[in-house]
Amino acid sequence: MQCTSTIADMITIDAARLSRSIQDFGRIGTLPNGGVCRLALTDAEKAGRDELVRRMQSLGLTVRIDSIGNIFGTRPGRDADAGTVMIGSHIDTVSTGGLYDGTLGVLAGLEVIAALDDARLETHRTITVAAFTNEEGARFQPDMLGSLVFVGGMALQDALNTTAGDGMQLGTELKRIGYAGSEEGPRDIAAYFELHIEQGPILEAENVQIGVVSGVQGISWHEITVHGRSAHAGTTPIALRSDAGLAACLIVQRAYEMSRAIGPDQLMTTGTMRLKPDLVNVVAEEAVFTVDLRNPSGDALKQADINLLHIAEAVAAETGTRVTCRTLARFDPVIFDKRLVDSVEKTAQSLGYSTRHLHSGAGHDAQMIARVAPAAMIFVPSAGGISHNIREFTSPDDLARGTTVLAQLVSGQAELMKE
Ligand code: HGY
Ligand code: MN
Ligand code: MN
Repeated sequence: MQCTSTIADMITIDAARLSRSIQDFGRIGTLPNGGVCRLALTDAEKAGRDELVRRMQSLGLTVRIDSIGNIFGTRPGRDADAGTVMIGSHIDTVSTGGLYDGTLGVLAGLEVIAALDDARLETHRTITVAAFTNEEGARFQPDMLGSLVFVGGMALQDALNTTAGDGMQLGTELKRIGYAGSEEGPRDIAAYFELHIEQGPILEAENVQIGVVSGVQGISWHEITVHGRSAHAGTTPIALRSDAGLAACLIVQRAYEMSRAIGPDQLMTTGTMRLKPDLVNVVAEEAVFTVDLRNPSGDALKQADINLLHIAEAVAAETGTRVTCRTLARFDPVIFDKRLVDSVEKTAQSLGYSTRHLHSGAGHDAQMIARVAPAAMIFVPSAGGISHNIREFTSPDDLARGTTVLAQLVSGQAELMKE
């Protein structure tokens, strides 16, 4: 028989338990000055995966690992054929990561399960907590790789053949850490929810408690290689040089100006640059660097991509070098399911929390799941808008509010049943 009293009265998350679980998990891959480094498929991330699986099993969840290493923990429902309500995110981090990016979404999912158990509540549908492989795209590109493979947006073999900057192949590393699974994750997803930190300044600046995420902006990652010729820095006239280092800097500079000209929404970041031979008195013969372009407008992002390639070609001609460009990731903007987005807003407001609509600047697994199921996200504030930084912080109260909204939404979609 379906429950009649309000969900809010029936399920209570344990804020202290949630905070403890995040702090404890944060010790895996901990860095000397705080923060964490759990790059995908490294030993530190394996330790995180092992701990996650242990926690899922201790909650009685059925754990499945698929062929790209995504981890799924499912709580039974009255009707196994009624589909699952999925709560997901990631536990891999960038090398200067914080305790909350991704991890909050997964551990808040386990807190929802624990709260349902505390209240001895059953559900009509099953509930699945998922941690997707290589969400960050810091070690292997593209980002959101595990969820992309899960929804059929990338062939498994292409993903397994992906090679990291450190030369290691994804498939080999997956086997090495023991997470090359053979099971299938749940396919019949009735609804997907991802709780995540905002990672930007808006919610804190406007003193808003809950972000109702309308969608994710477009992301375009380029790897540009400039091929030049090494030469003596003291004896080679500028006119005779083929300077890959100079060319790289000019491309970055002009790409920045181009993004400024497109407008405030056009973001451009060069986060990596490697020169060869990388010596003070040798003109560089090769430069390899990345350009991360983002824009909520698909058309504007397309234009920025085209402009970037034109800039690279023009600089190569000017400097007597040659450029090659490789796309590392390319995702159009995504709009989340309106019905589900509205339910996030209504639920948060029914709990008395302040809300605001915003789109995500970061990419998330939710944008991939949105290809195959209704998906929505809940944001909580990030102190100072800081993330991808060891000083990443979100207050325990904000964590608890976000998890309470998540618990209500999931229970609503899973349909609570009287025992
Ligand atoms: O957006 C990002 O860069 C991350 O990969 N999610
Ligand atoms: Mn994340
Ligand atoms: Mn991240």
